[in-house]
Amino acid sequence: MTRTHAIPATAPTAWRHPLPPTLPLRRPASQLAISLLAISLLAITLLTTGMLVANRAHAVDAAQVSTQDLVKQGAALYAQNCQYCHQADAIGKPGFAPSLTNPEFLETASDQFIMSTVRDGRPGTGMPPFSHLGRSGVQAIVAYLRDHTTRPNRAAEIDKQPTAYGDQRLGQLWFDQICSTCHGVRGDGYAEGGTGTAIGTVGFLTKASDGFIRETVKVGRSNTRMLGFQGASGLANLTDREIDDIIVYLRSLKH
Ligand code: HEC
Ligand code: HEC
Repeated sequence: MTRTHAIPATAPTAWRHPLPPTLPLRRPASQLAISLLAISLLAITLLTTGMLVANRAHAVDAAQVSTQDLVKQGAALYAQNCQYCHQADAIGKPGFAPSLTNPEFLETASDQFIMSTVRDGRPGTGMPPFSHLGRSGVQAIVAYLRDHTTRPNRAAEIDKQPTAYGDQRLGQLWFDQICSTCHGVRGDGYAEGGTGTAIGTVGFLTKASDGFIRETVKVGRSNTRMLGFQGASGLANLTDREIDDIIVYLRSLKH
């Protein structure tokens, strides 16, 4: 048996020098070029990222400045058009005009509720319409009012609450017994000598959702005469069903 050598005897020598001697010298040169390219790419990336971050910071600054401008513009419009009735800082005056800056009102009322109330006013009450201020004017006033609280607005969720179902007759019993003292027997509010607003009128009932009314009755409005009607601190502890009975009765009062 003869052993065949697949590789010729000279092969190991050739294999020991697979590359010509000049190549190792050229390699670092090309590696250097690649490294330079990589470094410059990295530098460009870092620069662009830096510029993007700086730009974003600029955008945030601009947004803050424009919100501040809007609040300032709203404060001026408020002083001119609303302060006489709603008082400085919109704290309200019992029996004359409600507070627009108590945290519960700002938490419960949507921009749409406030804006449409200001635009249309409340017919048959002391709240006049302000359509002449235009959308942007009223938006500025809303920004000014909202600047009085840090609590998040829950209106989207509140306005999605289910429609009230209940017993109108039972609702009337509660209303006459408790609510009419401040809101008037017909829900005409100040016009009936009460300290509460006109919650039986079209102006209020067409803008307010059942969720808005339900939430207001439950939690009340701090620093006003409207106390909550649920829980230990409530003026009376009404159940969810009783509150719905009252809402159904209120809707029947609409005039
Ligand atoms: C002449 C007095 C008067 C002026 C001026 C006035 N309001 Fe009113 N506003 C009232 C009265 C009174 C009510 C309550 C009406 C009722 O009984 O329902 C009211 C109610 C409101 C409500 C509803 C509040 C709630 O609790 O649901 C909003 C919002 C409001 N006013 C915003 C404004 C804004 C904003 C301005 C200025 C652009 C303004 N009002 C100017 C008298 C006034
Ligand atoms: C002690 C007086 C008082 C009683 C009792 C009272 N309220 Fe009120 N209510 C007020 C006042 C005052 C306001 C407006 C807050 C303000 O002046 O800033 C108000 C506001 C409201 C609002 C919001 C109206 C709006 O214009 O946005 C609703 C809804 C309401 N009350 C429902 C009721 C119901 C229902 C009852 C009976 C279960 C009731 N209130 C009992 C004084 C009262």
